[in-house]
Amino acid sequence: MERRALIVGNWKMNKTVSEAIRLSSELKLQLRDVTECDVVIAPPFTALYAVYQVIENTPIILGAQDTFWEEEGAYTGEISPRMLREVGCKYVIVGHSERRRYFKEDNLSCNRKIKAAINADLIPIYCVGETIEERESGRTFFVVEEQLVEGLKGVELTDGKEMVIAYEPVWAIGTGKNATPQEAQEVHGFIRKLIGEIFKERIALNMRILYGGSVTPENAGDLMGQKDVDGLLVGGASLKASSFAKIVKYKMEGERK
Ligand code: PGA
Repeated sequence: MERRALIVGNWKMNKTVSEAIRLSSELKLQLRDVTECDVVIAPPFTALYAVYQVIENTPIILGAQDTFWEEEGAYTGEISPRMLREVGCKYVIVGHSERRRYFKEDNLSCNRKIKAAINADLIPIYCVGETIEERESGRTFFVVEEQLVEGLKGVELTDGKEMVIAYEPVWAIGTGKNATPQEAQEVHGFIRKLIGEIFKERIALNMRILYGGSVTPENAGDLMGQKDVDGLLVGGASLKASSFAKIVKYKMEGERK
């Protein structure tokens, strides 16, 4: 089963419109020959349309960092999946641990967002992962299972390519302390098995599972070398064109070997 590698840059709350145009223009140059994997960048909402105009007709794909689940209406401050589609987004991150932590998102709101995204033809990247306390008390698999079972309840998939899972251990995000490739594989393997139970094995084999948390050009290759790690969700290292391009190209080199 060939799963196409996917490298996603999550810019978080960084880059004004002019800074975003600059960064995406640099990426456009440095990644113009990428064909071996899918590359997504997720700028803040305000910069989406400007970045889309820079990367249109390049291999780089646009993603958003969040979405609301309603299509339109009196929801001050929110952005709908249809709005994201119209500015050129193909992917949307759902349930990032920072949203769970600072904005009290839970598995139920993630579930609504995932369904709304798929309905609008956006590919949700659903983030799951345990905190350090949960890991240390041996609850990693329990927490990840709960996030998946509740987050994916009633989600309908035809082949598993309509959504992506990102395993992001909370203790690894922005800390410089990444999961070892073995630690990542252990959870990725568990996630794939569970996806097979929730949906069907064929769907689990098609679905891409990304690792996120302190990914750098130095550790990207080893993480990608794991059998159930199909891609990377990159925060800090996606804010500089050179380091993000190295992460993307490290994978390409690895695949050629
Ligand atoms: P990081 O963030 O690469 O800065 O650890 C990853 C993420 O939060 O998606």
